[in-house]
Formats: sequence, C-alpha cells, structure tokens
Amino acid sequence: MIRFEGVWKSFEGRPVLKGISFTITPGEMVAILGKSGTGKTVTIKHILGLLRPDRGRVFVEDVDVTRASRRTLNALRRRFGYVFQGAALFDSLTVYENLALPLKERGWPREKRDEAIRWALEMVGLGGTEDLYPAEMSGGMRKRAGIARAIVARPDYLIYDEPTSGLDPVTADRINDLMLYLKEQLDVTGVMVTHDLVSALKVADRLILLEEGEIAVDIPVDRAFEESHPAFRAFLKAAGLLERQT
Ligand SMILES: Nc1ncnc2c1ncn2[C@@H]1O[C@H](COP(=O)(O)OP(=O)(O)OP(=O)(O)O)[C@@H](O)[C@H]1O
Ligand SMILES: [Mg+2]
Repeated sequence: MIRFEGVWKSFEGRPVLKGISFTITPGEMVAILGKSGTGKTVTIKHILGLLRPDRGRVFVEDVDVTRASRRTLNALRRRFGYVFQGAALFDSLTVYENLALPLKERGWPREKRDEAIRWALEMVGLGGTEDLYPAEMSGGMRKRAGIARAIVARPDYLIYDEPTSGLDPVTADRINDLMLYLKEQLDVTGVMVTHDLVSALKVADRLILLEEGEIAVDIPVDRAFEESHPAFRAFLKAAGLLERQT
C-alpha cells in the first residue's frame, strides 16, 4: 500500500505539487499521466524518500517515508524495483554485472545471485545475454535489461518512469506486454509514469492525471472513455483514441 496525504512540494518558491492525495492498494498498478514538467517524476521520488514534501505525508504500508530514519528508508527501498527515466545501465559493466549490483548490495551469495539473474533475464526475454555490454544491445533490449535489474531482487513494489519512451511502437508494446506479464506473475504493487496513454490503458488498473500540481482525474482504466475532464480528453485525442469532433 502506498498513500499520499496532502503532499506539497515547491522548488525555488514555485509549487510543483499542490496537496496531492491518493492511495495505491496492494496488487494495484497505477499509471500517473501528465504533460512534461507536471511533477510525475517528483511524485514518485517522494515514494522512495528521495525527495521530502514541504507539507503532507507519504506512507508505504505503515512507514511514514517523510519521517523515516535512514536505516528504515534503506530497508524499505530494498523492497522496491525501479526503472528510472532513461533507465541507466552502467556502460562499463556487462548485463550480468549490472544485475549483480543490487544483489551484492543485499549480500546475496554467488549462487543465489546467479540463479536470480538467470531468472530475471528469462522473465524479460533476454536469456543468454549475460555477457553483453549495453552498447551491444538495442534500445528495446536495454529497457528490458533495466526492467530485469528492477525485478532481480524480487521486489514487492515496482516503479517505472517512462518505460516506453523513445521506443518504436512495436517494441514499446512488447514492453507493455512484459509489464503486464510481470504484474500477473509477481503480484507486485506498482506505479508507472508515462506520457503514453495506450501503454497506461493496457498495463494499469487505475489512471491518475496530474495537471498543474493537482490530481485532475483519478479513475479505474475501464472508465477512461467515459471521463469528461478536458485535459484527459485531450490525452485520449492525442493518442488517437477519440473520434475527431467536427
Ligand atoms: N531537484 C529539483 N530542483 C529544482 N526543480 C526541480 C527538481 N526536480 C524537479 N524540478 C522541477 O519540477 C517540475 C516537475 O518536474 P518532473 O521531473 O517531476 O516533471 P515530469 O512530470 O516528470 O516531466 P517529464 O514528463 O518531462 O519527465 C519541473 O519544472 C522541474 O524543473
Ligand atoms: Mg519525468
């Protein structure tokens, strides 16, 4: 369970989040939509305690992330897998070494690491790529390797920031299928931040639209086509999902 209660955040006096509240229930995948610069990445950074709100609180289960000690935060972060915007793998490390990092941090022994890495790469359809360097892979493969790294320690929570950006539509859809598969297989609770409504409609259970620091829309996916909020309609229209009105 992840819960935001009236979270405010400003940078240099400019408010980015203006009192946002929402709850993500266990097993749920929520998509956060919104135009560039509306605070999507800022929002998810609050979940991990990478940013602290000026006002309001953020809970993960019964832990108040905004007040947690470093030790509690570190323990909590280990239960998360995240694919950050631009999903950086270390270029100087092989796929195997990239995936081994979070496991070494957790003190997993060699054998357990190898098994987890094999499993994660199989899950994302990259079995046998252990010895490749990121530069030897396509953009889609790198995204999948980034997702493999996010799941390798079997997280309870997954956070994806723009998992399909910069990919061709076919590869993007393969990533969608992968996220859907992982959601069903791993039973994780998750958040995906995206501009891509098609991806959100396919993968998420619920859609939250951020607009000017506020939650403009918070609906189950199956209500998407009934939603009348103009900013949300604009998203549908831009995705080509709405008949043009003449
Ligand atoms: N550490 C920071 N210091 C100052 N300003 C910041 C910081 N982080 C974010 N901002 C500002 O907060 C606003 C929201 O940023 P954020 O990265 O959350 O946008 P976003 O919705 O993720 O956009 P995009 O879709 O382009 O990724 C932006 O105006 C950004 O410049
Ligand atoms: Mg962002």
